[in-house]
Amino acid sequence: MLLECKDLIKIYPSPVEGLNFPALRGLHLSIKKGELISIIGPSGAGKTTLLRLLSAYDQPSSGEIWYQGRLINQFNESEIDQYRNDVGIMYQSPRDNLIWELSALDNILFPMRYWGKFIPNHKQRARELLDRLGLKGKESRKPAHLSGGEQQRVAIAVALANEPTLLLADEPTGELDSVTTAKIIDYFKELNRELGITICVVTHDRRFSSMTDRTYKIQDGRLTSFQFPKEGVTTATDREEEAIIDTDGTIRLPDEVLKQLQGVSSAKVVIKGEKIEIIPSRRDKRIQNDDEGSEQE
Ligand SMILES: Nc1ncnc2c1ncn2[C@@H]1O[C@H](COP(=O)(O)OP(=O)(O)OP(=O)(O)O)[C@@H](O)[C@H]1O
Ligand SMILES: [Mg+2]
Repeated sequence: MLLECKDLIKIYPSPVEGLNFPALRGLHLSIKKGELISIIGPSGAGKTTLLRLLSAYDQPSSGEIWYQGRLINQFNESEIDQYRNDVGIMYQSPRDNLIWELSALDNILFPMRYWGKFIPNHKQRARELLDRLGLKGKESRKPAHLSGGEQQRVAIAVALANEPTLLLADEPTGELDSVTTAKIIDYFKELNRELGITICVVTHDRRFSSMTDRTYKIQDGRLTSFQFPKEGVTTATDREEEAIIDTDGTIRLPDEVLKQLQGVSSAKVVIKGEKIEIIPSRRDKRIQNDDEGSEQE
């Protein structure tokens, strides 16, 4: 396993006592070498929080993150530097990715020089990255003179500058139109297929779900389900969804099932051979009476 999270919890302290906010509530995730995965969820689901922990930018309140068999929460500063040399990171906000005083080209050259990894023909490689991301002719512009989408693409190039083993990207297409988004998605696929770069994207952009090997849903600080292509089926849209069962036995039912269970707050779980049946208990009497009352109105 390349990267593994076990029972990650992140609680943000609040200035008001008793209002601490649990942004991640026991999250488990395993990423294999060579995988291309996306984690999709609505605003506030915990995507950026997760990415900041995976990139060792912030510490979890509890839980473990393992990278190639080593516990990253216990890295010292020089080990964090080594880790960041191996992992390309693109944060959600361009301000966190780019140096405002430097041109687009120098932004890409900076990590190549700073981390000291030997990249042959590094200037040519930086130019090629910019070309590949549709920024030819904009090499000498500073970020303030680029559009939001262009800044985002320079940030992708910066994250790829040192030929990372793992690319972590937070909303890489947040500012992009559909055509450019499709190109970026294709580029990620190519990087994954041809250079073997493992890629993990966190996003609210559902278009990623059909392009990745595995797509997780994140909600309220937990991974709730994942989708993967059905066996023997090659079309990217034909996918199977599975609910995730946490180590404590918690399972989040799919939204469609929840809708049918309105008013039911418990269920019998019965093992029948290889199958397990979930039988909703009779509905709460009070709710039943309310319903009956409203029918008479
Ligand atoms: N520094 C912080 N202090 C307190 N609460 C925070 C902090 N950062 C994030 N949160 C809260 O944690 C939750 C998860 O935030 P996070 O930024 O991880 O969400 P997200 O899924 O990335 O959302 P978005 O799609 O809007 O970027 C949110 O409810 C947010 O308000
Ligand atoms: Mg975010």
